[in-house]
Amino acid sequence: MGTGHGQTGRSDSLDRVSRFAHPAGDRHAEPPPHERPPLAPDDLNWINPAIWPRTSGRVDGALTIGGMDVRDLAREYGTPLYVLDEEDVRSRMRDYATAFAGSEVHYAGKAFLCKEIVRWLDDEGLGLDVASGGELAVALSVGFPAERITLHGNNKSTAELTRSLEAGVGHIVVDSYDEIARLGYLAAELGKRPKVMVRVTTGVEAHTHEFIATAHDDQKFGLSLSSGAAAEAVRRILELPSLELVGLHSHIGSQIVDTAGFEVAARRLATLLVRIKDEHGVVLPELDLGGGYGIAYVDGDEAPDIKGVADSLREIVRKVCLDAGLPVPRLTVEPGRTIVGPGGVTLYEVGTVKDVEGLRTYVSIDGGMSDNVRTALYGAEYTVVLASRESDAGPMLSRVVGKHCESGDMIVRDCYLPADLVPGDLVAVAATGAYCRSLANNYNYLPKPAVVAVAGGRSRVIVRGETEDDLLRGQL
Ligand SMILES: Cc1ncc(COP(=O)(O)O)c(C=O)c1O
Repeated sequence: MGTGHGQTGRSDSLDRVSRFAHPAGDRHAEPPPHERPPLAPDDLNWINPAIWPRTSGRVDGALTIGGMDVRDLAREYGTPLYVLDEEDVRSRMRDYATAFAGSEVHYAGKAFLCKEIVRWLDDEGLGLDVASGGELAVALSVGFPAERITLHGNNKSTAELTRSLEAGVGHIVVDSYDEIARLGYLAAELGKRPKVMVRVTTGVEAHTHEFIATAHDDQKFGLSLSSGAAAEAVRRILELPSLELVGLHSHIGSQIVDTAGFEVAARRLATLLVRIKDEHGVVLPELDLGGGYGIAYVDGDEAPDIKGVADSLREIVRKVCLDAGLPVPRLTVEPGRTIVGPGGVTLYEVGTVKDVEGLRTYVSIDGGMSDNVRTALYGAEYTVVLASRESDAGPMLSRVVGKHCESGDMIVRDCYLPADLVPGDLVAVAATGAYCRSLANNYNYLPKPAVVAVAGGRSRVIVRGETEDDLLRGQL
């Protein structure tokens, strides 16, 4: 044949190339979808209230949120677009305040922070956790009371610590011996005495993705309970007159639905309070139990019952402390995702619909891993629907992908969309209020989309979408 490739011709060898397995072995392959297809939902048009914002539904076939038709939102603001249901977010803030009445609820700003969210927090009486000088600046820029702010981070800079001390933040959670020394020195220099907590890694195995599990010893956060590092941190702080040790902190991870881990961590933290009293004669008045409560992303997901969690955590801490003759400490929790996650939806326009025969259909949308990196980063799952109309077409096994130059650029890895989907249709991805805009980036020089709040049939931009000028700003 003269192909130079042995006895088979080029077309023969191409015929024998597996469509599923990489020649290097099965490690690179995944089961072909026809061998293990995900289940198609009964109703592709269903807006599952466990997943979608509290005010969402379908009117004349189109998805509506906060009384706004998504087709109107797309026309007015363009796509991709982050849509935030104000009533949903505010009502979840209130739910937390009610469930944890008598305790402090600090919203974890890393989930999604902007000036308007800070105003909502202030209105609803919540506190705020910040993890950087930038997050602190957002809060202070709208006059949020500094004493209701807690500063977190495993490597806070001198500038961040100084600014926090000057602003008078309510608490600083210390994460290392280096930081204890640095903060003690800075506080003394500035004539301040901040309230500090020790971040304790309680050794709890959180059943979540490795990148968002934070209480096992072999990771960067906190000071280990089992190795004695947490106890040593307590001893060091107590020796520094410029720091006021008020409590202990634990955060075991994120998107956790099995609440047993929170309970184990709370018990361990309360037990450490007792030990501190025994060893140092000091009664610490506060425990911060962190955040991490999961939300529903896909059908069948069950979010923990917040009231139930609150009751059981309170009871565990109360019992450990009362049994040891200690006063019951004031509790703080730090939910992020559960407050803003479910109220957020991302709207995209479909650009291409490519059927890869025998496998699945690739639906390319006008955003991608720059506006939602969670799928690429840790295999997050999402629910997506055709949003601009209803359809009674059959289910089409699909993968919703972005427009970036990465094959890992996926928004929804496995899903079903109606088989009559065409370019120009709008699709909506649910539960994108948390860790999407806050993790957004400009890969391939895509501008970050706007965030629009909707409520009572009105919409308004709360974070302006980036323009080409924004992308070029700062370049010399
Ligand atoms: C210290 C701390 N508190 C609270 C949170 C909020 O977690 P979530 O958004 O899962 O509730 C995080 C998130 O990683 C965190 O690191």
